[in-house]
Amino acid sequence: MKGESAAEERLARERLPRHVAVIMDGNGRWARERGLSRIRGHRAGAESIREIVRTAGELGIGYLTLYAFSIENWKRPKREVASLMALLKRYLRRERAELDRNNVRLRVIGRIAGLPEDVRGAIRDAVRHLDRNTGLTLVLALNYGGRGEITDAVRALCRRCARGEISPEAVDEATISSSLDTAGMPDPDLLIRTSGEMRVSNFLLWQISYAEIHVTPVYWPDFRRGEFIRALLDYQGRERRFGGVGEAADPRPGSRSPGE
Ligand code: FPP
Repeated sequence: MKGESAAEERLARERLPRHVAVIMDGNGRWARERGLSRIRGHRAGAESIREIVRTAGELGIGYLTLYAFSIENWKRPKREVASLMALLKRYLRRERAELDRNNVRLRVIGRIAGLPEDVRGAIRDAVRHLDRNTGLTLVLALNYGGRGEITDAVRALCRRCARGEISPEAVDEATISSSLDTAGMPDPDLLIRTSGEMRVSNFLLWQISYAEIHVTPVYWPDFRRGEFIRALLDYQGRERRFGGVGEAADPRPGSRSPGE
């Protein structure tokens, strides 16, 4: 579309977020408005994933983290959970070749041990298959909850303290960051939430401290390239202050300095 490409031209390629995190919401509402089953909504949502991953890779974004299945999602009807798992497995198997062609690496965060064995197998295969790639890192949050992740990190740190490997005084923000599932990744610069809700829903609680938040009323199955570009333009229009005045330095470890 002409309008879309004009928007794309306004994007400053040198000021793209390094890490974009997305709360993909609205599959159910999208389906209901069309008289379709929720499962059809999730299938349409998987199409959006395809398009957004491709676009993020093409633009040169470093990390894209998608909230694909939360710890709370187990409370959904059994049939819906089963089809979400099947969809995930199919996505990993079918998209592997395209992800590889696009130089995408895959990483997963969350309590992976709590997923069904066949899904874990599909994750293992896909991660291994893509591990030499150097482009976009696609991070799928599966059986994920931010508080659970922080709890696990605190437990791991306590164990290390009890074994005498580190002293409690040595525990700082960097130690905590590197004990989370996202260890080694930059924090998200931009958090996108689709379908209008103003909540963070237990997603990346530690990591989004300084993220810019873009909430759109658009349902996830309708969130395609044009919407993604609009979110990135919104991000580029923000003045990031990190708690300081004017263009202050990003305080996060390993972060770029302003102007870089
Ligand atoms: C929320 O919509 C969406 C999810 C449960 C997570 C996203 C899942 C997909 C996009 C399905 C495919 C996933 C992969 C990895 C292939 P909702 O059901 O909560 O929508 P509602 O709030 O309108 O009911």
